Amino acid sequence: MQKSHKTVLKKEAVDLLNVEENKNFIDCTVGEGGHTEEILRRNGPKGKVLGFEWDKKMHERMKKEKIERLELVNESYVFLQEVVKEKGFSSVSGVMLDLGMSTWHIEKSGRGFSFQRDEPLDMRYDEKSLLTAKDIVNNWKKGDLIKIIKDYSGERYAGEIADQIIKSRPLETTGGLVEAIKRAVSKDYEKGRIHPATRTFQALRIVVNAELDNLKAVLPQAFNVLEPGGRIVVISFHNLEGEEVEKFFKSREGLKVVKSVTPSDEEVAENPSSRSAILKVAEKTDGQ
Ligand SMILES: C[S@@+](CC[C@H](N)C(=O)[O-])C[C@H]1O[C@@H](n2cnc3c(N)ncnc32)[C@H](O)[C@@H]1O
Repeated sequence: MQKSHKTVLKKEAVDLLNVEENKNFIDCTVGEGGHTEEILRRNGPKGKVLGFEWDKKMHERMKKEKIERLELVNESYVFLQEVVKEKGFSSVSGVMLDLGMSTWHIEKSGRGFSFQRDEPLDMRYDEKSLLTAKDIVNNWKKGDLIKIIKDYSGERYAGEIADQIIKSRPLETTGGLVEAIKRAVSKDYEKGRIHPATRTFQALRIVVNAELDNLKAVLPQAFNVLEPGGRIVVISFHNLEGEEVEKFFKSREGLKVVKSVTPSDEEVAENPSSRSAILKVAEKTDGQ
């Protein structure tokens, strides 16, 4: 497989999972397998990884690799406990989540994840899901558009963007949406620091894929399947996700916070997409 994605915080994440020989781990977001492969390099000869990948095409790409000791499922991690039970996957020493966007989705999927390409307004990881970005921009009421753009991205021009989206209907492609957003925002938007469509695209992707709901659903399941002493490692790229993880780690009895880590200056220079990443780790205490 030709890999497009640069794995973020690979060494740090796998070090903090405390990967040891013959131990079993779960990677909830396999993608192109950067973290999975590093875990498998360290947990041989008998340790396994149960990997979740929601996107059928991404799953097929990884499946072709025929990686030994990896049990890969094309399922959302919201079904973590169900799948663990069904597969009889036991003695789980660590659960990993990488909540970033894969480069393959942005550059190759053709599903409108990037504001730099003119593609259908889709943004679904699971192409069987019913809600697309096109449905939202063409059918949702102004108040609902404002709410998601503001809540999920902090966009200052949410009202103006919602107005322009409504005026530009029907919107078919990301190109049309980007033009509508540009008409809505001030010309000196963020003084050129980020593209004016960055925040709105992020908000749409979060809603289309129910990303925050999924995260809320998986954290208690990750805790439940872990052995005492096992760890949960989450890499998030958005403050709402980070807050959700923090809240769960601090409030769940039987879980102790270990630490948070951000990418080094060298990693950010080599892979600018890692700049907003934050890795949080918690450990299940004995006797739970
Ligand atoms: C940032 S990528 C993972 C990259 C991987 N850690 C690597 O280094 O190659 C995130 C992956 O998670 C998948 N994903 C997103 N939401 C998911 C969910 N609810 N269940 C399972 N996989 C999901 C995406 O399709 C994407 O392939």
